[in-house]
Amino acid sequence: MSDYLYQTTSQYFGQLASGAEVCGEAELKELGATKINKGYLGFYFCADAKTIYNIVYKTRIFSRILAPLIAFDCHSEKYLYKTAQNIDWSDFLTLTKTFAITSNVADSNIRNSQYAGQILKDAIVDQFREKTTERPNVDTRFPDLQLNLYIHENKARISVDLGGGSLHKRGYRIESVEAPMQETLAATILQLSGWKGERPLFDPFCGSGTILCEAFMKAGNIPAAHLRQKFDFLRLPDFDATVWNQIKTKANNETIDVPEDVIKGSDVSADAIKAVRANRNALPEIGTIKARRSDFQSLEGFSNTTIVTNPPYGIRLGNTEEVAGLLKEFGDFLKQKCTGSTAFIYYGDKTLVKKLGLKPEWRHELRAGGLDGVLCKYELY
Ligand SMILES: C[S@@+](CC[C@H](N)C(=O)[O-])C[C@H]1O[C@@H](n2cnc3c(N)ncnc32)[C@H](O)[C@@H]1O
Repeated sequence: MSDYLYQTTSQYFGQLASGAEVCGEAELKELGATKINKGYLGFYFCADAKTIYNIVYKTRIFSRILAPLIAFDCHSEKYLYKTAQNIDWSDFLTLTKTFAITSNVADSNIRNSQYAGQILKDAIVDQFREKTTERPNVDTRFPDLQLNLYIHENKARISVDLGGGSLHKRGYRIESVEAPMQETLAATILQLSGWKGERPLFDPFCGSGTILCEAFMKAGNIPAAHLRQKFDFLRLPDFDATVWNQIKTKANNETIDVPEDVIKGSDVSADAIKAVRANRNALPEIGTIKARRSDFQSLEGFSNTTIVTNPPYGIRLGNTEEVAGLLKEFGDFLKQKCTGSTAFIYYGDKTLVKKLGLKPEWRHELRAGGLDGVLCKYELY
């Protein structure tokens, strides 16, 4: 077994969405990371085994946590192939295991991300073939080992993706609707709102209930990866099963009951409400999420409530003028029927902010899942 980069440096990289940096850095500190430094769309940080398992199990904000194996100057495809073969891939894979590679290349001699991933794949399978005449297979859907290749300005890094794929896939999304929000985005919005479970929370455009489910997980202190089936830190040569079991057991024992009537939502679509119930049922039985079918216009209104929501936006959901009209009506609803509450509205399209007719106290740009959106806070006096 060689000394891999994450072993000699104890350094890892966490990937997140643009705009989530403040929340991501605070979360890393809270989960015990040290020497946190900003990189492109993420943070480098140091952690021991206990801390890194803890981070992968609990992060709500990061989409990937990567353990670098090697980093090197890489000016050509040939050199990528040759250097990737310096890794003894039998430290991570056997012939019966499958693997997949996510690759990202920017501002480098190697231009094509997919092709770079292909070269890394060839280096891995050729190494096995030379030794055994057989090779492990690629499985892009359910790989045993998820690798990551990143090349920026001709500097390459090959890493193991410790969550075994994107961590936004929490495992509770049994049913969905059109334009669901990414779970990591919903978690970031909740973090920025400052809501901690003490005040009633309502989402009047709840769709499949991503904001509600993330609020439930947060209020119940449920580890974000509680339902996750696979973690690729298990494939690291120095994986410590005793430490991992201690971390998991401790985190699972720290869940708390979510009080009745705190997390609620509604949506005009019956399918959306069905999806919320299915998704809620996938989560641990430590409280309730109440969701009902209703047009927001028919709601009585709210006082002393944190409203967190993601109304329709024109790009994906039809007519922009129609959406503008709906937002104007929603603005009037907030003004007339929600005094004493606070609203956090995530607009999937920034140009829609002015349609609400209310002045935001602050705005925070957040890009995720192909959306170039903005979160605005409104104090409703
Ligand atoms: C952008 S989606 C919300 C997605 C949600 N955040 C999720 O993760 O699934 C907007 C939602 O607003 C709902 N909607 C549209 N018009 C509405 C209205 N007048 N009253 C209540 N809900 C409405 C749609 O059915 C849709 O589910």
